[in-house]
Amino acid sequence: MMIPSRLCGLVFGLVSVTSATNVIHYPPKLTNLNNLTFVLNGTGAPGIFNSSITPDSEYGIYNWCNMPHVRTEEYLAPSSNYTLKYIEVIQRHHKRTPYASNTFFKEDITWDCTGEGPVYYGKGTVGVTSDPTVVQWSAYTNPENPFTNSVGPGFVGSNCAFPQITTGGINDSYTHGADLRSVYAERLNLSTVLDPSTFKIRVTSNPITSQVSGGLLHGLFPDSSDVAVLIQADAFDSLSASYSCPAADSIFTAYTTGSSNWTEHLVDGAELYEELDAVSGTAENDTAGWHTSFDHYYDNLSAKQCDAKPLPCSVNDTSSCVNQTLADTVFRLGNYEYSYYYRDAFNSTLFSALSYGAWVLELVGHFKEQIAGTSGVRYFHNVAHDDSLGPLLGILQISEMVWPGMGSEIVFELYEADSLLSNATASTSNFFLRVLWGGQPMQTSLPLGTNNSGLLDMIPVEDFFDYVNNTIGAGSELFAACQN
Ligand SMILES: *[C@@H]1O[C@H](CO)[C@@H](O)[C@H](O)[C@H]1NC(C)=O
Ligand SMILES: *[C@@H]1O[C@H](CO)[C@@H](O)[C@H](O)[C@H]1NC(C)=O
Ligand SMILES: *[C@@H]1O[C@H](CO)[C@@H](O)[C@H](O)[C@H]1NC(C)=O
Ligand SMILES: *[C@@H]1O[C@H](CO)[C@@H](O)[C@H](O)[C@H]1NC(C)=O
Ligand SMILES: *[C@@H]1O[C@H](CO)[C@@H](O)[C@H](O)[C@H]1NC(C)=O
Ligand SMILES: *[C@@H]1O[C@H](CO)[C@@H](O)[C@H](O)[C@H]1NC(C)=O
Ligand SMILES: *[C@@H]1O[C@H](CO)[C@@H](O)[C@H](O)[C@H]1NC(C)=O
Ligand SMILES: *[C@@H]1O[C@H](CO)[C@@H](O)[C@H](O)[C@H]1NC(C)=O
Ligand SMILES: *[C@@H]1O[C@H](CO)[C@@H](O)[C@H](O)[C@H]1NC(C)=O
Ligand SMILES: *[C@@H]1O[C@H](CO)[C@@H](O)[C@H](O)[C@H]1NC(C)=O
Ligand SMILES: *[C@@H]1O[C@H](CO)[C@@H](O)[C@H](O)[C@H]1NC(C)=O
Ligand SMILES: *[C@@H]1O[C@H](CO)[C@@H](O)[C@H](O)[C@H]1NC(C)=O
Repeated sequence: MMIPSRLCGLVFGLVSVTSATNVIHYPPKLTNLNNLTFVLNGTGAPGIFNSSITPDSEYGIYNWCNMPHVRTEEYLAPSSNYTLKYIEVIQRHHKRTPYASNTFFKEDITWDCTGEGPVYYGKGTVGVTSDPTVVQWSAYTNPENPFTNSVGPGFVGSNCAFPQITTGGINDSYTHGADLRSVYAERLNLSTVLDPSTFKIRVTSNPITSQVSGGLLHGLFPDSSDVAVLIQADAFDSLSASYSCPAADSIFTAYTTGSSNWTEHLVDGAELYEELDAVSGTAENDTAGWHTSFDHYYDNLSAKQCDAKPLPCSVNDTSSCVNQTLADTVFRLGNYEYSYYYRDAFNSTLFSALSYGAWVLELVGHFKEQIAGTSGVRYFHNVAHDDSLGPLLGILQISEMVWPGMGSEIVFELYEADSLLSNATASTSNFFLRVLWGGQPMQTSLPLGTNNSGLLDMIPVEDFFDYVNNTIGAGSELFAACQN
C-alpha cells in the first residue's frame, strides 16, 4: 500500500470538529471478515491469493491478486429506457512487487525484473525529440557501497524496483482495459483511438499508477500509443488523498493506535507475531510498522504468492518458514484491519469523509456538468491505491468491507431516463446513478435505493448529492473541517 502520512504519523490529542456536515455511521454487516474470533481462530484464506485467474464459474469472488471488474460475461444492462451518459471508474493499481518497507531486512526470495523495468524518459515535440529511445530502470546494488545494507530491505540479488508493477500486473492491466472496452466502447461510442475530448485518465505521483495506465490504455484504446494522463500535485491531490487534513489524522489515530478496539487484535496476535518475526528477523521492539498492524507481513506474503513465489524461510535457518496456515491467518487479519479502518470503527465514516471528500466533490462536479450538458467527457478513469478505494468505500458505507485488492474497481454509471419515465420535479433531474463494485451493483448500509435497501442501483442522482452534502459538505466546509 502507499502509506500516507496519516497512516504513519502518530498525532496525539483529540480535536473537536466543527463542521456543517452531519456524518452518520451506518454499521457494516457482521461476517467472518470482521469477526475477530473467526479471524484469529478460523481457517482458510478469505479468497484467492495465489493467482490472477479466477475461474469463470466463481468470477466475482475476492481475488487479492486481481479483483473482479466489469466484463461482458457478467454485465447486466439496466432497462433500455435509460441511456448511459457518463461513467467514472476508479481502480487500484494491479499486482506489483512489495514496497521496500514491506520486505525483510534480508530475503531468501529474490525478484527478477530483467526487461521489465519501469520506463522513464522525456519527450519533446520537435524533430528527433519526439521519438527518443525508450529507457527502462534496472535496480542494482554494489557491495563496495557500504550503505547498501543499512537502508535495508532485501534489495541484494533483485533488480526490481520496490514497488513496481510486475509483468503479470501489466498483463492484468491490459485485460482490465480490454474488458472495460468490451462493455463500454459501444455504449459510450468510444473509438479504438483515444479522443481526449471524450475520455480522460488520471494517475497519482506514484509511478505504479502510470505503469498500470500503459497496460490498461492498450486494452481500452488499442490504436493509441501516446497518451497524456492527468495528475494533481501531491500537496493537494485528491486521488491519492495526500492533501493535508490534520483533523482526519487525529481521528484516525484516536480509533486505531489510541483505542483498545484496535490494539486488541495485535495483543491477541502476539503469538503470530513471534512466529512471523522468527522468519523475518524483525525485532520485538521494531519501530518500522511491523507490529502496529499486519500490513507489512500481508503485503510481503501476498506479493510473493500472487507472483507464484514460495513463502519465505529465515535466511539463518531454512527450516523456519512461513507456512500456508500462518499466511492465511495474516490474510484474514489484513481484511479485518481494513474493515475496521473504513467501516467498523464508529468514526471511520467521519475519517473517510474528511480524507477522501475532495475526490467525491470532484466526482459530483463531473456529474453536474453532465446534467447541465456542459461537458463532452463520457468516461473518466482514475488509477489509484488501496488507501484511495478504502475511504471511498468508507464514504459509500459498503456493507461488507474488504482490503481492496489489486485492480479493485468501482464504476459510477450516470444514466438519463427517457422523458416518459421521468420523475423529474422542480428539484430533481432525470438522471440516475448506478455504482458497480467488482462488476455488480454495490450493496451498502446506506438508507438509499429502493425501500432504502442500500443497493446503489439506479438511484435518483439527487439522493446521492444530498448524501454527499450531508456527509462531506461544500468544498469550503470540508477544507475548514480538515483544519480543526
Ligand atoms: C481463540 O481460541 C483460543 C483457544 O481456544 C481462545 O483462548 C481465544 O480466546 C480465541 N480467540 C478469540 C479472539 O476468540
Ligand atoms: C464469530 O465467529 C465465531 C467462530 O466462527 C462464531 O462462533 C460466532 O458466532 C461469530 N460471531 C458472530 C457475531 O457472527
Ligand atoms: C492456491 O491456493 C488454493 C487454496 O486457496 C489451493 O487450492 C491451490 O492449489 C493453490 N494454487 C497454487 C498454484 O498454489
Ligand atoms: C420503457 O418505457 C415504456 C413506456 O413507459 C414502457 O412501455 C416499456 O415497457 C419500458 N421498457 C422497458 C424495457 O422497461
Ligand atoms: C494474461 O491474462 C490472461 C487473461 O487473464 C491470462 O489468460 C494469461 O494467462 C495472462 N498471461 C500472463 C503472461 O500472465
Ligand atoms: C470501541 O468500541 C466500543 C463498542 O463498540 C465503542 O462504544 C467505543 O466508542 C469504541 N471506541 C472507539 C475509540 O472507537
Ligand atoms: C540472522 O543472524 C544474524 C546474526 O546473528 C542476525 O543479525 C539476523 O537478525 C538474523 N536474521 C534472521 C532473519 O533471523
Ligand atoms: C531493541 O532492542 C535491542 C535489544 O534489546 C536494542 O539493542 C535496540 O537498540 C532496540 N531498538 C530500538 C529501536 O529500541
Ligand atoms: C504452520 O506453522 C505453525 C507455526 O508457525 C505451526 O504451529 C503449524 O502446525 C504449521 N501448520 C502446518 C499445517 O504445518
Ligand atoms: C469521533 O471523533 C470525534 C471528533 O474527534 C470525537 O469527538 C468523538 O469522541 C469520536 N467518537 C468516538 C466513538 O470515538
Ligand atoms: C418514478 O416514480 C414512480 C411512482 O412514484 C416509481 O414507481 C418509480 O420507481 C420511479 N422511478 C424511478 C426510476 O425512480
Ligand atoms: C447542503 O446542505 C445544507 C444544510 O443542510 C443546505 O443549506 C444546502 O442548501 C445544501 N446544499 C446543496 C447543494 O444541496
